[in-house]
Amino acid sequence: MRILVTRRWPQAVEKALADKFDVTFNSDDKPLSKNDLVKAMGEFDVLCPTVSDAIDAEVIAGGDRVRLIANYGVGFDHIDIAAAKAKGIAVSNTPGVLTDATADLALTLMLMATRRAGEGERQLRAGKWTGWGPTHMVGSALNGKVLGCIGFGRIGQATAARAHHGFGMKVAYYARREMPQASEVDGTFYPDLAELLAVSDVVSLHIPGGAETANLIDAAALAAMKRGSYLINTARGGVVDHEALAEALRSGQLAGAGLDVYPAEPQVPECLLGLENVVLLPHLGSANAETREAMGMRALANVEAFAAGEPLPDPVA
Ligand code: DGY
Repeated sequence: MRILVTRRWPQAVEKALADKFDVTFNSDDKPLSKNDLVKAMGEFDVLCPTVSDAIDAEVIAGGDRVRLIANYGVGFDHIDIAAAKAKGIAVSNTPGVLTDATADLALTLMLMATRRAGEGERQLRAGKWTGWGPTHMVGSALNGKVLGCIGFGRIGQATAARAHHGFGMKVAYYARREMPQASEVDGTFYPDLAELLAVSDVVSLHIPGGAETANLIDAAALAAMKRGSYLINTARGGVVDHEALAEALRSGQLAGAGLDVYPAEPQVPECLLGLENVVLLPHLGSANAETREAMGMRALANVEAFAAGEPLPDPVA
């Protein structure tokens, strides 16, 4: 069984894979071209991509050998699941293991945006800090404020738990249905998105990317948010209309935003780069050593199950 791993993975995972299988690694870690991915479909049995690989219908049509796409990561909107399914290709992901890391990063962004941490650091490094002052770079408190989670799966719940138990925030959430887990954070269910937006001081996105959620946070949604509130996105960039967000940040409709994800990574929407009140991180949600290793081991578990002819632990198609 031939396996292609499209990017460098943590050393321990690469070793565990290489001990068991015939694996081709990407030692220089340069993202593969579309052409390379198309060719790989005819040359390997298992493809192990990441969010940085667009596994679209054209790639999937590239060859008939791949039978499993074992994604390194929980989100899979970069894979055309319908096209894979139509060819009988199984797809797996790595849920659960990156919940805490991503929730930690949502709180990082929340604190950075509300306490103006990026702005303050830029001022200091530029030699423009003139000293402590009662009105210098005053931000906004989290205690007692309402966190509105859009999506209340594992990561939404973990973010709400940190915000509620750690920072004294009240929790509201928008989801398809009421969730019993919300009682742990005394969370209030809002079946209507505009109502959730209207009551939240900080809105945090925890929904998958893809066609169903594209531009969910558009100009109308931003206008429905409380004036002076904050938007946090650790989910997928395509969920937000960034031109509309930039306008809301310029006009003061939003006091700030914290973003970790963008629609066409690694490009960052030009309209955001000159704004002081947005924190911009380079897709770091799962980026701690323990999590990245656990993600790889989870992908490996799916490959092993596939090789043994057993049901995949984490099937998505
Ligand atoms: C995920 O797992 O979806 C992260 O965003 C990294 O891919």
